[in-house]
Amino acid sequence: MLSTTGPELRSLRMLFILILVLLFQLIDGKRDLISACTTCKQISENFNKGFDRTMKQNFGGGNTAWEERKLSKYETSEIRLMEIVEGLCESSSFECNRMVEEHEEHFETWWFKRKTKHPDLHKWFCIETIKVCCPKGTFGPDCNACVGGSERPCHGNGLCDGEGTRGGSGKCSCNHGYQGEFCLDCIDGYFNEIRNDTFSLCSECHSSCKTCTGATNQDCDECKEGWEEDDQEACVDVNECLKDPSPCKEDQYCLNKEGSYSCKACDTVCSGCTGVGPDKCQACASGYQDTEGTCTDIDECSQPEPPCTKENQECANTNGSYMCICSSGFEEHDDECVQTPQPEKAEESEASDSDLHREL
Ligand SMILES: *[C@@H]1O[C@H](CO)[C@@H](O)[C@H](O)[C@H]1NC(C)=O
Ligand SMILES: *[C@@H]1O[C@H](CO)[C@@H](O)[C@H](O)[C@H]1NC(C)=O
Repeated sequence: MLSTTGPELRSLRMLFILILVLLFQLIDGKRDLISACTTCKQISENFNKGFDRTMKQNFGGGNTAWEERKLSKYETSEIRLMEIVEGLCESSSFECNRMVEEHEEHFETWWFKRKTKHPDLHKWFCIETIKVCCPKGTFGPDCNACVGGSERPCHGNGLCDGEGTRGGSGKCSCNHGYQGEFCLDCIDGYFNEIRNDTFSLCSECHSSCKTCTGATNQDCDECKEGWEEDDQEACVDVNECLKDPSPCKEDQYCLNKEGSYSCKACDTVCSGCTGVGPDKCQACASGYQDTEGTCTDIDECSQPEPPCTKENQECANTNGSYMCICSSGFEEHDDECVQTPQPEKAEESEASDSDLHREL
């Protein structure tokens, strides 16, 4: 076994692992770029919030007079900057704290030297200085325009991958209803209401169309399943229930719907039916008879020739059938009803009671 891990194989395995690691770093790196921008955006938003929060503050503490003499006004002071910077990150956010720590001197530069000329911190810090973000509508290391242009990425019908960050591919993932590299084409079941080289509005077809050129059932290119063209070339519902043979089983009735149908169980008293209930039977199930259009139970026991003919036997009607049972005080034995053996005298009444229960 040891010979299979010889030097050649080992170096081959090393190479394989190295390639895997590089591949993961490549994928990870792209994701890192996007998340770095997200972090930076959060930092600049928190900076603006901190700026507003400290708007009405002044120097606190006992040294106020001294500090006011010594330093510039609070609004532009280092103290105010420090207060803002302290509130930039949640203490638990590792990435945020690392970014602030790494670039702390940039906040000072901006605060004292750039703020007036470059009031937008996100633009100056995230996009132009530490270069983790891109302007709107652009993506990637060089902030190239997204597919469809930076003005309206994906022509307004989708999201540009990595937009506003130094990562991503700049490709579009289209909104529902749209497809194609540029999100200008409509998916099946949608049609172009408006369309030119840079603008496209896709709307849903009529529910009867698979594909269409307009909104009504007369604008279908092709009907959906369950619909067919009528003589005015409009797609109309197919009534599957009228088909011969019926699409349902014998003990079911058919219910037509727009574009489809369903099969429902007939009432148990029916043998075939046209709808729900005992009055929609095509014929009555065995043990039932037609009484003024409704199938009802036949009471076999009260027929002129009762079916239970053995001695000491009684007839009991049931739904759709009947039962022959031994009369009280008798029990079935070898297909005959024989007298139940008499119990001890003391227990007589109790015993006969429980025998009756057993029979039923
Ligand atoms: C395309 O259509 C949109 C919306 O109707 C319009 O604003 C735009 O000017 C049109 N562009 C061209 C090149 O025709
Ligand atoms: C027979 O069935 C019907 C409906 O299922 C029920 O209402 C009725 O009580 C049943 N009768 C007997 C004797 O079991």
